[in-house]
Amino acid sequence: MAPPDAILGLTEAFLADPNPNKMNLSVGVYKDATGKTPILKCVKEAEKQLVANELTKGYLPINGSPDYSSHLADLIFGDTIDRSRLAILQTPGGTGGLRIAAGFLASQLAPIRLWTPNPTWANHLPVFASEGVPLESYRYLSADRTSLDIDGMLDDLKEKAKPGEAVLLHACCHNPTGIDPTSEQWTEIAKVLADKHLLPVIDFAYQGFGKGLQEDTSSIHAVLKENDEAIICNSFSKNFGLYSERVGGLTLVAANDSAAKAAMSQLKKIVRCNFSNPPRHGAAIVSAILSDSDLTASWHEELASMRDRIQQLRNQFVETMKTSGSGHDFSFLLPQNGMFSYSGLNKMQVDQLKNEHSIYIVGSGRINVAGMSEDRMQQLCDAVAQVLES
Ligand SMILES: Cc1ncc(COP(=O)(O)O)c(C=O)c1O
Repeated sequence: MAPPDAILGLTEAFLADPNPNKMNLSVGVYKDATGKTPILKCVKEAEKQLVANELTKGYLPINGSPDYSSHLADLIFGDTIDRSRLAILQTPGGTGGLRIAAGFLASQLAPIRLWTPNPTWANHLPVFASEGVPLESYRYLSADRTSLDIDGMLDDLKEKAKPGEAVLLHACCHNPTGIDPTSEQWTEIAKVLADKHLLPVIDFAYQGFGKGLQEDTSSIHAVLKENDEAIICNSFSKNFGLYSERVGGLTLVAANDSAAKAAMSQLKKIVRCNFSNPPRHGAAIVSAILSDSDLTASWHEELASMRDRIQQLRNQFVETMKTSGSGHDFSFLLPQNGMFSYSGLNKMQVDQLKNEHSIYIVGSGRINVAGMSEDRMQQLCDAVAQVLES
């Protein structure tokens, strides 16, 4: 038997827990005030239109729907880049894009290593390792686990990475820490990548969950200002709430049009022997929303309300902890972005929260802020305070 997935295993334990006051802050999905992961209204409306108008379930091209790719490019790049430099694949979720990126690094650029932040999303390492990409990590988190170790990060990239190697970056809402570089720091990072001829591989799983749809692309633009080439893997799981529909993409930014065409031919080869061609439905929903101005406006509104709710919960948690009597200041969570925060709780405290309070968070201390609820904030903070005191 393979060991259970660390995070999904926690959910199983949560479901089996008979305590009526249990709380699951471990999983990586958005939850509304009622604890549900809702279907967005714009998605429901788009689906109605699709059901009425869809003519075929025939295969999509290997690289997916051209209409979808063009919307994807609008969202990520706007008019900042010559589109002939882009090779875009529609992929099954962000994970599908990452896996194809891994296949590309392994088949086209081997034996280069991929540098990943420490820590990073738990699935990054196995996805790249399973294609045989050698992995190294660069420093990301400060020793007190509350901020970015920008000097450590830049030193590792300058001193340890070799020219031609690849560097994995989270465009925004770093998972698991919620800690992102500032715009000045992104410029510094972009310059180091360019000076060292390092290939940026950017994971963009949370567009719109940080500061805003446009604002969250600024890291990518900063990197592309200094670098001609990059691979960007994006996901629409979170921002459209389309988790199970598997909607994402891989965009390879090439220096010119002929390099983009050559890269596309290689990418298609990798897709063909992997998932062959991407699923239609989820991408059709995204295209339907983005080609209708009313649905797009409704999406913007719903996305903003998810983003605002997460920020309010983060603020409420920090405020409530101040009055919980533990004497611990959690204000370092306030500048963090997206669904996750590193709480600073250690493994023993995390276990205690689970065993004594039926509150489930990941062993690293990562909290899904969207899993908190306004009504039960006091209960959560009292439990955290008790654990900290003991
Ligand atoms: C950083 C990061 N990248 C990629 C993904 C994968 O997203 P998807 O579900 O679209 O495959 C996630 C999902 O949690 C993530 O957090």
